[in-house]
Amino acid sequence: MQTVGIRGRFFSFIRAPKGPGDSGSYLYLRDGMLVIQDGRIVAIGPTNEVEGTLPPGTIVTHYERELILPGFIDTHIHFPQTQVIASYGTQLLDWLTRYTFVEEQKYYDPAHCTRQAAFFLDELLRNGTTTAVAYGSVHPQSVDAFFTESEERGTCMIAGKVMMNRNAPLGLTDTVETSYADSKTLIERWHKRGRQRYAVTPRFAITSTQAQLEAAGALLREFPDVYMQTHLSENLDEIAFVQSLFPDSKNYTDVYDRVGLLGPRSLFGHCIHLNEEELQRMADTSSVAVFCPTSNLFIGSGLFDMASTEKSKRPVRVGLGTDVGGGTSYSMLQTAAEAYKVLQLKGQNLPPATAFYMMTRGNADLLSMGGEIGSLECGCFADFVVLDSKATPAMLHRMETIGDMIEEELFVLMTLGDDRAVRATYVQGRKLHDRNLA
Ligand code: GUN
Ligand code: FE
Repeated sequence: MQTVGIRGRFFSFIRAPKGPGDSGSYLYLRDGMLVIQDGRIVAIGPTNEVEGTLPPGTIVTHYERELILPGFIDTHIHFPQTQVIASYGTQLLDWLTRYTFVEEQKYYDPAHCTRQAAFFLDELLRNGTTTAVAYGSVHPQSVDAFFTESEERGTCMIAGKVMMNRNAPLGLTDTVETSYADSKTLIERWHKRGRQRYAVTPRFAITSTQAQLEAAGALLREFPDVYMQTHLSENLDEIAFVQSLFPDSKNYTDVYDRVGLLGPRSLFGHCIHLNEEELQRMADTSSVAVFCPTSNLFIGSGLFDMASTEKSKRPVRVGLGTDVGGGTSYSMLQTAAEAYKVLQLKGQNLPPATAFYMMTRGNADLLSMGGEIGSLECGCFADFVVLDSKATPAMLHRMETIGDMIEEELFVLMTLGDDRAVRATYVQGRKLHDRNLA
């Protein structure tokens, strides 16, 4: 069994921080060593304690000035939108029609799927993201290509074929029966094969009939440990359209609730305009609202209200996602920076420790994957990102005034950092991205 050592500065959360300066929430090793066997972390601690335990001849890579964190986790992104990102001038429903639905039709072609999946996964890794919850296109071959490429890289990915049977071009629609059968085949083929996981993926209420949403609910009952992802309450015109399509529903959330789509493994993108009753249902069912700040700003959807998710006795669980191609960056650092600014406009706050918790351990816990990913504990997969806080002149110059103050350094990383700040990305202890070799 081959042992690999990584030496450097390490930062990883033990639990959620209660606010700025809560140093009990994380482990920060100024000179630490991480030991990897068979793709998993088997030891982590101060170098002077761990070094002596290494088998003779162990190769140790030393990162002298970087900061090593668990790989980032993106809980909402669209793999067929790599060529939709940065499309000009529209809001949600027009944006879908004019750009997204045009591009997604190309995923009929398996060769196109493979090319785009390879680009997409490499771009995630270049940005330090090692796990993502991704939408495919309506075509099952998009998901086959995506998981095949993920398996090759050894990454842990969650994805699903979009189910959509109305209000979309013919080339992008399935039926109740084919969406159920194709999803089921993909679940049986991919769910829990190695590190791959399936998410039942009705796109959103506008593009599914009641019968198709019921089929999605049936899949969740049949396969209780798969995930579910969809969009919820992103844009005011969307909400009005949903209300007209489902006049008997109390509200948008209720459309999904009635067919059994809420629950602890269910991720709802956006959730910008939920009322109190909807937030309460989200909380009661342990459903997850995913905050997608760059997308919400770019498509002009609105400002996510973090405080409203904390009002009920049990808070709504909140994840962080890029939502590329509505989102404008693959970088979770940039996503956190925009989340900070959105909350500033709401008179709310996002301490850097909380932002980094969300990107790592927090998102892992939302996926019930704590202990597997999102932290640098023994037993976790050795998926980690090597960050350079001095990657650009502006960062270097700012860091001169900060020195060894970890939370301030994290804030510089998220505010000024992007893919340039990612020195290297490792998956199962294998270096899959190296900025200096790219
Ligand atoms: N709602 C339904 N589909 C989409 C999508 O592809 N992106 C975003 N941002 N919202 C959606
Ligand atoms: Fe989305």
